Amino acid sequence: MSADLLIDGLSTLYTCDPSAPGLGEHRQVSLAFAEGELIYLGPPAHAPDAETVIDGEGLIGLPGLVEPHSHAIWAGSRADEFRRRLAGASYSEILEAGGGILSTVAATRRASRQDLAENGRARLVGLRAHGVCTVEIKSGYGLDPATEARMLEAAWDCGDTVRVVPTFLGAHAVPPELKGDRAAYVRQVIDEQLPRVRHLAENIDVYCDRGAFSLDEALEILSAGKVAGLKLRAHAEQVAYTGIAAAAARLGATSVDHLERLPDADIAVLAQYGTVAVLLPGAQLYLRDIPPPVGALREAGVPMALGTDLNPGSSPVHDPWTIAALACILQGLTVEEAVLGLTRNAGLALGRPELGWLGKGSVADLALFRPPAGEPPDVAGLVQQMAGHRAVVLVRDGELVFGA
Ligand code: NIG
Ligand code: FE
Repeated sequence: MSADLLIDGLSTLYTCDPSAPGLGEHRQVSLAFAEGELIYLGPPAHAPDAETVIDGEGLIGLPGLVEPHSHAIWAGSRADEFRRRLAGASYSEILEAGGGILSTVAATRRASRQDLAENGRARLVGLRAHGVCTVEIKSGYGLDPATEARMLEAAWDCGDTVRVVPTFLGAHAVPPELKGDRAAYVRQVIDEQLPRVRHLAENIDVYCDRGAFSLDEALEILSAGKVAGLKLRAHAEQVAYTGIAAAAARLGATSVDHLERLPDADIAVLAQYGTVAVLLPGAQLYLRDIPPPVGALREAGVPMALGTDLNPGSSPVHDPWTIAALACILQGLTVEEAVLGLTRNAGLALGRPELGWLGKGSVADLALFRPPAGEPPDVAGLVQQMAGHRAVVLVRDGELVFGA
């Protein structure tokens, strides 16, 4: 049997296979791909021949990384807001005064589908360079039916760069034209936006928080999304506690994200429903916030995923490896938890259990990294060192994306 692609004699591979202990570590191993599938994983001596052969000596292999929470499509700049926040203004104050998310909304409404896709693609090329194969992209900077749809269409256009998982986030903020009439906007989200975008999105998300949507409004929107056949997510317990994390879990949400103010009682509910906790240490850092309750999540057995939360305001972070280091330093994750957070648990957060690991039943995505200078081929060096690691080889669906 001959393969299309052989990675020969890889020094260290972490499959992150759910049926393997720990990170599913293998030393001195070869992997072969044919017709979009992983067809061999084992000792180099028994590997099949292949058309393309890549020497894995000295390299670290991981499943193609999964980005479970991004706002990677936007127009405009918030660099000036960064200055204002450094001078003391808070994120919520800026939003309430019509800036923050709403300033991105104004710029995004003016941008064409082509412009949005072009900007988005440039950011996704950056994520891909770090070893990311799959990126969740949220709408939420349109806040009207046409612009929400245009953002999601632009997300689809970016599918030539990474595997895109599109999420509808009409309930991100109340648009300026309906300021003060949240009820009217909730109706628009449910009656006008959702029917228009339901076939463009895989998930629905809500920002339930002080200054955004209430628990009742968020649940009404998520329930409508569920009826429309979308998977559910929520921005939860970030600025103020609302109860959305537990309530969304009960409704069947695949993940709840942020969670800085998640109380112990609600952690038990996430554990009971198998909801993934998506941690976003970039937002914690930029907003100088407190960490989510990682020790209690661990103890309860809640799977933890990590996202960049890539967006122009609260987390302009383009590198999942920086996020992994921050998750360990600021939030208390172990190296192994951080790696699972960028891979298998990120796939679970998206309700896509075939993503983020390598083995029978997984997608055939692989990222190879050279260890930082002087380091052994061990993933701990990648997590420890904030060097903006770039993949030297990337394989998606069994096809070489770059490297040879
Ligand atoms: O996940 N918290 C709300 N939404 C985003 C921020 C988006 C923005 O600031 O533009 C978040 O942090
Ligand atoms: Fe977000």
